[in-house]
Amino acid sequence: MVMAQKNARRRLVVGNWKMNGTATEARHRVRLLRDGTSALSGKLSCELVVAPPAVHLALVVAELHDSSIAVAAQNVSEHAAGAYTGEVSATMLAEIGCRYVLVGHSERRALFGETDAVVAAKFVAARAAGLVPVLCVGETPAERDAGVTEQVVLRQLRAVVAVAGIAALKNAVLAYEPVWAIGTGRNASPAQAQAVHVVLRQALAQEDAAMAAVVRIIYGGSVNAGNAAALFAMPDVDGGLVGGASLHALEFLEICAVAQ
Ligand code: PGA
Repeated sequence: MVMAQKNARRRLVVGNWKMNGTATEARHRVRLLRDGTSALSGKLSCELVVAPPAVHLALVVAELHDSSIAVAAQNVSEHAAGAYTGEVSATMLAEIGCRYVLVGHSERRALFGETDAVVAAKFVAARAAGLVPVLCVGETPAERDAGVTEQVVLRQLRAVVAVAGIAALKNAVLAYEPVWAIGTGRNASPAQAQAVHVVLRQALAQEDAAMAAVVRIIYGGSVNAGNAAALFAMPDVDGGLVGGASLHALEFLEICAVAQ
């Protein structure tokens, strides 16, 4: 029933550049994307988003001002303002033209100690500034081996719902990113991705079925031009969060082209 709604959800492909590249490279890549999307105009029905390093956000927004590609930050502070050296607030990101922000990426959770509570606070801060959070959830290899994938992703989702409220999810995107698939070249199979996406959508549907039918759930973890079509063909996979392959503009465009 929920699956039949897929056409109600516009596909979304987000390129997460992580901490890669100079300003010159960022400008070059984004110009290729801008020119590529306008050359393909009418053929690309999905929504494209790029997430450059924070220091390149303003130049990428400026390069894309007349394009349909939106810009995401990779991280945001949970605090509104104040003595938080090194942090960037959601209001600052919105002010310079970011529309999306990644929240709870597994690298933030694993390498920078972001707990479920911190991720929830960042989600709330993003929404308060009008940004669309891309909430990342996913299990580690050990958690998958232990058979607790569902419990892990539901815990991560519910931690946010408990603080932000279910209604806030309507203006958000979920990204299922199994940690074992990120940067490994070993993507989840389409069936594995679909199974977890259904778990997430059903959890949302228990609280608000209409909202669950329209929330986009994208898959991330070693998405490339060779595997994207099969992943995106799954009924509950609404696009992708692409790391390594998004650094190659032409491959990223190929991935977007199959997200129809
Ligand atoms: P990957 O990264 O595509 O390089 O696996 C995905 C991500 O971390 O968002």
